[in-house]
Amino acid sequence: MMGEYNLLMLAVFLFAVLICVNSDVDHQPVNFYLEPYLHPTTKQWKQLEKPYPTPRKPSQVKKFRVMGDHLNITVDLSLTETEALKFLQDIDHEDRELIHKKTVAAWDQDTDMASKEKRIAYFELVEKRTAFNREMWKRAAIYPWETFRNRTIRRAFKSILVGGNEALPDKTQQELNEISGKMSYIYSTATICPYNKDGVQPSKEDCTLTQSDIEAKLSETDDYKEGKYYWKAWHDAVRDIGKGYPRFVEILNEVAILNDYPDAQEYYMSQYETDFLNLRAHEIMGRIFPLYEQLHAYARRKLREHFEGQEHEGEITVDGAIPLHVLKNLYGQRWDAIYDILVPYPELPRIDIGAEMERLGYTQKKMFEDGDQFYQSIGFDKLRKEFWDDSIIERIPGREMACHATAWDLSDRKSFRIRMCTQITMNDYRTIHHELGHIHYYMQYADRHKQLAAGANPGFHEAIGDTIAFSVNSVSHLQKLGLLSKEHKNHGKHAINQLLLHALSFVVDTPWVLSLEQWRWDVLAGKILPKDYNCHWWKLRHHFQGVTPSAKRKPTDFDPATKYHIPNDAQYINYFIAKILTFQFHEALCITAKQYDPDDPSKPLHDCSIYGSKEAGKQFADMLRIGSSAPWQDALEIVTGVRDLNAEPILDYYKPLYEWLVKENAKYNETVGWQNLHPDVDYSFCEKED
Ligand SMILES: *[C@@H]1O[C@H](CO)[C@@H](O)[C@H](O)[C@H]1NC(C)=O
Ligand SMILES: *[C@@H]1O[C@H](CO)[C@@H](O)[C@H](O)[C@H]1NC(C)=O
Ligand SMILES: *[C@@H]1O[C@H](CO)[C@@H](O)[C@H](O)[C@H]1NC(C)=O
Ligand SMILES: *[C@@H]1O[C@H](CO)[C@@H](O)[C@H](O)[C@H]1NC(C)=O
Ligand SMILES: [Zn+2]
Repeated sequence: MMGEYNLLMLAVFLFAVLICVNSDVDHQPVNFYLEPYLHPTTKQWKQLEKPYPTPRKPSQVKKFRVMGDHLNITVDLSLTETEALKFLQDIDHEDRELIHKKTVAAWDQDTDMASKEKRIAYFELVEKRTAFNREMWKRAAIYPWETFRNRTIRRAFKSILVGGNEALPDKTQQELNEISGKMSYIYSTATICPYNKDGVQPSKEDCTLTQSDIEAKLSETDDYKEGKYYWKAWHDAVRDIGKGYPRFVEILNEVAILNDYPDAQEYYMSQYETDFLNLRAHEIMGRIFPLYEQLHAYARRKLREHFEGQEHEGEITVDGAIPLHVLKNLYGQRWDAIYDILVPYPELPRIDIGAEMERLGYTQKKMFEDGDQFYQSIGFDKLRKEFWDDSIIERIPGREMACHATAWDLSDRKSFRIRMCTQITMNDYRTIHHELGHIHYYMQYADRHKQLAAGANPGFHEAIGDTIAFSVNSVSHLQKLGLLSKEHKNHGKHAINQLLLHALSFVVDTPWVLSLEQWRWDVLAGKILPKDYNCHWWKLRHHFQGVTPSAKRKPTDFDPATKYHIPNDAQYINYFIAKILTFQFHEALCITAKQYDPDDPSKPLHDCSIYGSKEAGKQFADMLRIGSSAPWQDALEIVTGVRDLNAEPILDYYKPLYEWLVKENAKYNETVGWQNLHPDVDYSFCEKED
């Protein structure tokens, strides 16, 4: 069924390929990594942007709406759009009040996890909200919303009526809550013992290291064996999460089917309103891959040399995948902890604003104030008193609390908070700007109907703060703050050092994010059975990231649970999409702020800061204010002038680094890539348990 529309899209696609061939960074239109992910029938890469559905005719509307096995409601075709709008306004107030209470309870229990009362209070509100959702569903379901002319109203109804867990029978719903509660509880309370360097057995009281402690230990140690110990101990500590996961997947699929989706994978992807989201992500990954491979090959050589004295027993090879712990991160998600090993020009002054902050006596509060100041400079509102009163920006001693940095919208249009166990480091400085991006997005769309108070798509939210962090990270801005000495320049060897450091956070995680989400997509779609969960995990990690586990893994382990987003069922591909968007936003806003000009080498993209540009700020705010009331393509267009994800800005940003890496790897005759790329090869870590 190749309609005119498809032919047109194919033509557009071929044209795009022609353009790509001319670009400097990419040479492989459809490369090896993508091969298994070609579109099953067309064997082509293409994206059909889902045209936003036009209103239906009354005759096209189903007469009955059915939810699970408990609700069957007759649609009343006589209800008008005006009545529907009134209904939306009425429920908004009730809905916000309940969400507010529930979120406060969630906050309370998250910041005091040992308290049984708080946990019970939270779960009571979860149940209340579930009941309310059902009620809301019942009341909304009688409206013939598909026939309404106003797209915004249709979106609000769709958001109420499509997708919720409420479609489940009570018993299954309860089971789902129990399983997910248990999985996140195991994750947040799992602890391990410290490494006993001198053969001294650690005492029981010391065995309290949580995930964030382990991340810190792993990033600090340069002892090959110690790193390995921490990596393995954490992976072993969360194994039990795997006991609940297969049933969890079954229930998610039940939810999807009750909502008219073929499976949970399709349901999760539908939130992006993009056809073939997974293929689109793979296509973009393919554009970034040449850069990633160069980084990988460069890092592998440097690490091999670095650990040569320390008996890595040939585990860091000349042409293979990299054992994860040497990247000094549990997942290989960020490699900035090995920057000192990788630094291209060590003779230049160090980029370490953490040390500079310590020297200047920065506190956690001061770091947040800097962030607030930046947003104000582009015309955003200053943070409210409630923010400062209610946020928790340091770990509370002696309290069992979740420490993963998060930004909270308490849904009453005035309370927004951050919970973060901030440390005085460069990473956390960036994280603060990231979390503040969430807060400002919440603030910008707070006036919308609750159902439309969300990111334009789930990727947008993660891109806002990072876009600002890009500006903050520029040499000129850091120098203005006194966090970087005047010796630093924005070009030449200096720029290579800076770009490498930046890429260790902003490029190396793209294949990691994609492998995590691809794993979940495959699992949710039923392509992978529980007995193969762990093996598939490592296949994908190897395939996309070029990494291997640091210790022998078994099919009975459940290594996906080592990352917060699996036990907590938080989506993850949004970080991938956000990454691409961040570079798109940064480039476009820099052009608006007149701080980037592709034809002017004195204004490189990587050193642009939009600080103080009210024009860029306004453009950004106009996009944020839309929330999810319109398709994300409309929002994107406001800032970038285009309606699609685009990998070009990321390649523009790193162009000097890419060219340097190609030369450097060639100089040492490094093999670029890693062996056994294809997912069909035999993976030793998938061995049967012995
Ligand atoms: C819903 O109720 C109507 C009216 O009683 C009935 O005709 C219809 O078959 C029911 N639909 C389902 C799916 O139960
Ligand atoms: C749709 O309804 C919303 C909410 O009342 C309103 O703000 C918007 O202007 C309407 N859009 C159109 C195109 O009429
Ligand atoms: C710590 O040391 C003791 C005594 O030498 C040893 O039995 C134990 O296995 C060590 N633990 C770890 C985690 O290395
Ligand atoms: C790389 O290979 C070339 C050609 O075989 C050789 O001349 C050169 O010495 C090699 N360089 C290194 C660093 O091994
Ligand atoms: Zn975030």
